[in-house]
Amino acid sequence: MKDFSSILLSWYAVHKRALPWRDVKDPYLIWISEIILQQTRVAQGYDYFLRFVKRFPNVQSLAEASQDEVLKYWEGLGYYSRARNLHKAAQSMKEGFPSSYRQVLALKGVGEYTAAAICSFAYQMPYAVVDGNVYRVLARIFGIDIPSDTAAGKKCFSNLAQKLLDTRRPADYNQAIMDFGALQCIPGQPDCKKCPFSRRCIAYKTGHVTQLPVKTQKTKITSRYFHYVYVKQGNKTWLHQRGAGDIWQNLYEPPLIETKTPQQDYLSSQPYQKIFGRHPAVLKVAPLKHQLSHRLIYADLSEVTLPPAQAVPKGFFAVPFSEVRKYALSRLVQKLLQKAGLL
Ligand code: ADE
Repeated sequence: MKDFSSILLSWYAVHKRALPWRDVKDPYLIWISEIILQQTRVAQGYDYFLRFVKRFPNVQSLAEASQDEVLKYWEGLGYYSRARNLHKAAQSMKEGFPSSYRQVLALKGVGEYTAAAICSFAYQMPYAVVDGNVYRVLARIFGIDIPSDTAAGKKCFSNLAQKLLDTRRPADYNQAIMDFGALQCIPGQPDCKKCPFSRRCIAYKTGHVTQLPVKTQKTKITSRYFHYVYVKQGNKTWLHQRGAGDIWQNLYEPPLIETKTPQQDYLSSQPYQKIFGRHPAVLKVAPLKHQLSHRLIYADLSEVTLPPAQAVPKGFFAVPFSEVRKYALSRLVQKLLQKAGLL
């Protein structure tokens, strides 16, 4: 389609969203915004971005911070590896923010999409962004039914995206296609009567808008059963820091017993008794469902009162109740503690 980019850019001139990371050229700010927006909607990421760059306004301030503090600023956003990677990448930038596409792509946590976004927005380099929004827009307008989650599909979409890119205005073009996918060519049922491509859009003309893009693999969702135990020992409770190889790495939480089935009696289980001895816990928050991208977590919270003399087991540490909020907690733990009136 010869005038794809001019139609898109005309649409953008009218519908452009005013966002704090737009019309800035500082690659650091653009990088932070793109990492936040990788898995997060603009509406949710907006305030996090402002708070984050106020505290860490440049590479150096981020590199010099502790990982705990960086995670605290990320608290509640999810996909915490993004924050850990940002921090590590900042520490790797000995000579300031990298200025070539290859160096940007080599940063921890930066893939092709983010590298294209940073290099086009900050440096006007001609790299087209390709993500789920772009798959949807291109699949519909050009009537492409190759599954976007296969190697052949990915190649097809990225070749087309690169061909369509307006190399004189790569920043505007990339922002435009992002906004177009987020505001006009939305998942589900878009309002095609208002779309400037409706006369040319193959999916619209053939009635396939809701079927495109095609995906083959359904993400498999597995369930997990978490039982948190809030300790009351004088004016203190116990926390531990989660380890590697699982969700929420390096975040903090109360002692946790995980069971393989929902009904399993964890109070008389060995892991429970190993931590708490024979002191019984009382249920405070009934199981609630917490959805992550590949997991459904059923979690409850109970409370146990322990005598002052009981030693804090290895791997845990005691914290005054009022200081729990200083630690980076997952959204789920926040929710449970709030429901129990403990946060
Ligand atoms: N999603 C990812 N990057 C974005 C950006 N720069 N603006 C709006 N939405 C986005």
